[in-house]
Amino acid sequence: MNKDFLEQLAACAALAPSADNCQPWRMRAAGDALELHYVSRHPETNVFGPDSHATLLSIGGLAENIDAALAANGVRGQWEWSAAGTQPYGRLQLAGTAPARFAAPAGAGVRHTNRLPFRTDALAPDLAARAASEREGAQRVVLLQDGAARKALVKLVRLSSEARFCNRDLHRWLFGSLRKTPQEVDSGDGLDVATLGLPPGGEALMALMSSWKRMETLNRIGAYKFLAMTEVGLISAAPALLCVVGSGAGRDSVDAGRLLTRVWTQLNAAGAAVQPYYVVSDQINRLHDGSLAAGFDARIGAVEGEMRCLLGLAPGEMLHMILRVGYPKGTPARSRRLPLDQVFVSAP
Ligand SMILES: Cc1cc2nc3c(=O)[nH]c(=O)nc-3n(C[C@H](O)[C@H](O)[C@H](O)COP(=O)(O)O)c2cc1C
Repeated sequence: MNKDFLEQLAACAALAPSADNCQPWRMRAAGDALELHYVSRHPETNVFGPDSHATLLSIGGLAENIDAALAANGVRGQWEWSAAGTQPYGRLQLAGTAPARFAAPAGAGVRHTNRLPFRTDALAPDLAARAASEREGAQRVVLLQDGAARKALVKLVRLSSEARFCNRDLHRWLFGSLRKTPQEVDSGDGLDVATLGLPPGGEALMALMSSWKRMETLNRIGAYKFLAMTEVGLISAAPALLCVVGSGAGRDSVDAGRLLTRVWTQLNAAGAAVQPYYVVSDQINRLHDGSLAAGFDARIGAVEGEMRCLLGLAPGEMLHMILRVGYPKGTPARSRRLPLDQVFVSAP
């Protein structure tokens, strides 16, 4: 494989989604193989380690984009995945010769997060049916279009958001991720505030929230409830909520990340708009690993019980991600990516 092909493959892979655009990956080329490694880019604020659920979803997105690019270029590759807790996550052995020109797959550059309001009309039935039928290993999709079911899930998003706004680590992570000045945005990672689609007054509210000391004081008079309520405004109006669910054992979440990225890409390619909501999965994960804000265990335990019932989860299954889906009203600002030399290295 020539270096140019591997570089373009890596650039296409790196269009994958990641929590707060943290891009926790580095791809290393060695001969005709490409390895996927973990990188913590901002350890002082980072909350997602190498085997965290959020990171594994991103690694799955990387693998999905790589496979789409290989298919577009007629190149074969064989994945070998490592045991949980070891690096690299996986190694792709490429076979054959690279084409003279890299063909970018249609979907990877089209997929994006849209945090603006969506139209409220229903998804086209064939699009909804296709999304609902997607599978990857032990991972599947549950699509909620019925009003009562959507309302029940939105309530769980609101309760989970309340716990999130009381969590100091998540506060530090969010404000550490924000990129406001042109230089910060140019760095290529994190959350460009322009992508947040903040309503009038939103920036002032963010500035007020930026001090944890102030948040703690405001939370004593219920600010977290108000913030969670505003957080669910857009998701309450969405015509469809798509949930990626399935096995959470070992590194099965990599498969969930593949499925998430595939369905999201298909929806965007068909003209639908998508915004992920990770807060329910994240707070339930925190309940299990003991990193919830104090005082929320019973409430998030109840959220988990209701969510399992609502989505019909079998024992051993978990909620990986909720997607708000509809048709776009506007075109959102797009997130940037890190320069290629920070996500791809070629072994000498
Ligand atoms: C694990 C994970 C969690 C995410 N959580 C949220 C979320 O709760 N809200 C949101 O608006 N976007 C969320 N995102 C979307 C990312 O912020 C987004 O993928 C990233 O900023 C890159 O932008 P892009 O999707 O437009 O390429 C999440 C993505 C991943 C992979």
